[in-house]
Amino acid sequence: MEWINENANAYSARYSSAEDAFLKEISDFTMRYHPDPGMLSGHVQGKFLQMISYMVRPHNVLEIGTLSGYSALCLAAGLQTGGHLHTIELREKDALIAREFVEKAGFSGRITVHTGNAVDIIEKLKAPWDLVFIDADKINYVNYYEAVFPELRQGGFILADNVLFHGQVLEENVKGKNAKAIQAFNEYIKNDKRIESVLLTLRDGLMLIRKK
Ligand SMILES: C[S@@+](CC[C@H](N)C(=O)[O-])C[C@H]1O[C@@H](n2cnc3c(N)ncnc32)[C@H](O)[C@@H]1O
Repeated sequence: MEWINENANAYSARYSSAEDAFLKEISDFTMRYHPDPGMLSGHVQGKFLQMISYMVRPHNVLEIGTLSGYSALCLAAGLQTGGHLHTIELREKDALIAREFVEKAGFSGRITVHTGNAVDIIEKLKAPWDLVFIDADKINYVNYYEAVFPELRQGGFILADNVLFHGQVLEENVKGKNAKAIQAFNEYIKNDKRIESVLLTLRDGLMLIRKK
């Protein structure tokens, strides 16, 4: 991301553990064949998601916005024995690719890729979520947050991606419907007394939220 110092980003990548080979394969494939590959979490953010998963040791994980399965596989790294990750992808083509990579990585028994609109699918997935990653259409961030919140266990975590929205939320007058939606989400989180949060300036901004 240009608006975060390029040298600092490169330095961060250099001093973070190397990307796992199977994740690099997903990244390379996505960069080559997907029309919008910049959406993929990538090396440093992926490593951070893995670390969070190892720290939380979740039993149930929900991801909203799968793309090619990169972040799903990162978030599944620390799953407890018998634990499961559900991920939801609107586009059939992406969901198929994600399923192939999940299978190739040996995670098909632990990750389910659902195809369809997350707005409809979330309510069918009942679980005490330990960890939720919101990374789909920006205009629904607050809706996703409220839809998962009752099912998030006390002390559980939500991560929301792109909360700096390419730096557009830093403008005095935030323009564009997606940037405005992210700004509204950030305000919503700031005013929510049920949680505590930290906005990390990692990649495109990552909001880490803990349910009190
Ligand atoms: C930013 S990408 C996800 C990137 C992925 N989490 C990663 O880090 O590698 C967002 C994905 O959300 C999907 N998406 C958009 N709207 C959606 C919706 N309403 N329901 C489910 N998925 C949606 C898009 O098709 C896209 O693949």
